[in-house]
Amino acid sequence: MSETHFYEPSAGHGLKHDPMKAIIAPRPIGWISTLGADGVANLAPYSFFNAVCSRPPILAFSSEKEGDSLRNARDTGEFVFNLATEPLAEAMNTTSAMVPPEVDEFPLAGLAAAPCRIVRAPRVAASPASMECRVLQVIHLHDLEGRPTSAHMVLGQVVGVHIDRAYLKDGRFDTAAARPLARCGYLADYAVVDSLIQMRRPA
Ligand SMILES: Cc1cc2nc3c(=O)[nH]c(=O)nc-3n(C[C@H](O)[C@H](O)[C@H](O)COP(=O)(O)O)c2cc1C
Repeated sequence: MSETHFYEPSAGHGLKHDPMKAIIAPRPIGWISTLGADGVANLAPYSFFNAVCSRPPILAFSSEKEGDSLRNARDTGEFVFNLATEPLAEAMNTTSAMVPPEVDEFPLAGLAAAPCRIVRAPRVAASPASMECRVLQVIHLHDLEGRPTSAHMVLGQVVGVHIDRAYLKDGRFDTAAARPLARCGYLADYAVVDSLIQMRRPA
């Protein structure tokens, strides 16, 4: 067996670049749209994101700063997940720009907004799938010493799902056809899901 590089994160990783995000990869991207209490829409990508429960469906994203998505989700009790895909990669990246709260990232990224059915926040019209969520909890993350971190995790229950019918084949969402974008390590790395393999769980 080859030797391992071991480190305790609290003491530093001892490498040129922090490997954590390259190891926990690929990560799905929660492209989160919200509406401010002032009516301004907001859109930003979050790769500290995942589905964390299926019944009922619950999604979570974590914001490492007091950003607009966090504030809007907290203030309005709503957010929308939009699937970020390869054809939407540039637009997704544009929406990660640090812009003042009064700036709506939809026109900034050249994206059309479509209305949701249940929540007031808009969704990304061009995304193959979007999920309307109502906020369940906003958890301020603390470390082992009980010190508050800068991060808040937002948990939301999915109350409405939009699927572009072009991606429905025999009643299944065609993930590979949608070409979801996933975040990998370091500053600029992404992966695209363009093929799937099949494996059944043991009986
Ligand atoms: C692919 C991608 C994933 C990101 N994931 C996160 C994340 O998980 N948590 C976070 O705090 N910021 C993340 N960011 C940075 C935010 O998108 C960025 O800070 C943005 O300005 C936040 O917008 P908001 O203040 O409108 O919510 C990510 C950026 C990119 C491009």
